[in-house]
Amino acid sequence: MGAERWPGVAAPGDPLDVSSLAAGALGTRRLGRKIHYFSEISSTNAWARRLAEMGAEDGEIVIAEGQTQGRGRLGRSWVSPPFCNLYFSLVLRPRLDPAHAAQLTLTAAVAVTDSLAAFMPVTPEIKWPNDVLAGGKKLAGILTESSCRSDRVDFVVLGIGVNVNYPTEAMPEAIRERATSIMAQNGSAVSRERLAQRLIQDLDRCYGELQDSGFAGIAARWEERFWLRGRTVRAVMLEETVVGRARGIDAEGALLLEEASGTIRRVLAGDVTPVEDGAA
Ligand code: BTN
Repeated sequence: MGAERWPGVAAPGDPLDVSSLAAGALGTRRLGRKIHYFSEISSTNAWARRLAEMGAEDGEIVIAEGQTQGRGRLGRSWVSPPFCNLYFSLVLRPRLDPAHAAQLTLTAAVAVTDSLAAFMPVTPEIKWPNDVLAGGKKLAGILTESSCRSDRVDFVVLGIGVNVNYPTEAMPEAIRERATSIMAQNGSAVSRERLAQRLIQDLDRCYGELQDSGFAGIAARWEERFWLRGRTVRAVMLEETVVGRARGIDAEGALLLEEASGTIRRVLAGDVTPVEDGAA
């Protein structure tokens, strides 16, 4: 299959053994009590949202070997070739004020970097809000879609895509310069199954910590891995663009930018890129 799909580059791997990802096998408290597995799907996030709307429980997982319409942040697509990467979405029903929904996304970024660090020589970094990078290139992405009532979060779909055994040569040109994979970083393939197990365990642990102990500990670990700390960045938001030095995040997960005037601006949603000092 690999030879046909990607002439001259490594073959994609075997299907995942889904039974090894279930709560019973992994000892997780919340995640993986039910797993919905697909060899191909349009988008695990779209499917998980449908399940959540039909009443799926906290911790159900939708996982697919490949996606035909993988979704990224800000309306972008997520390149999702089969049998080489990981694509999955969690249905979560957290006890969370809607104003704090962003905490869940940042919590997921901490869990994902914990897991990836166990499979790579370096700990990946986080670009606000939740891009996971290695060597400045994108290794994993997180897409959260929430449904809220007036005073509480009804459900959150947390979708995670990790480039695992994806050879750089096989990536579309449009992303090759900006994206990487564990295989590209390590020079050899890793077990997708073992990584998926670890991800589900780390997500379960960090989600539990957020629910039981709040955001403070997670925020501190997020800040340690913050790729842009102290750098001048441009934040493009719907209505305006702000340039400032990245100082960290606040208790709601907003990015704090210090403008040249010294004013601290909060960025709640947008696209953030570093700018060379002096080029702002
Ligand atoms: C980003 O733009 O960085 C977010 C990418 C999120 C991709 C994952 S893959 C699994 C899940 N299903 C989707 O359609 N998107 C997310």
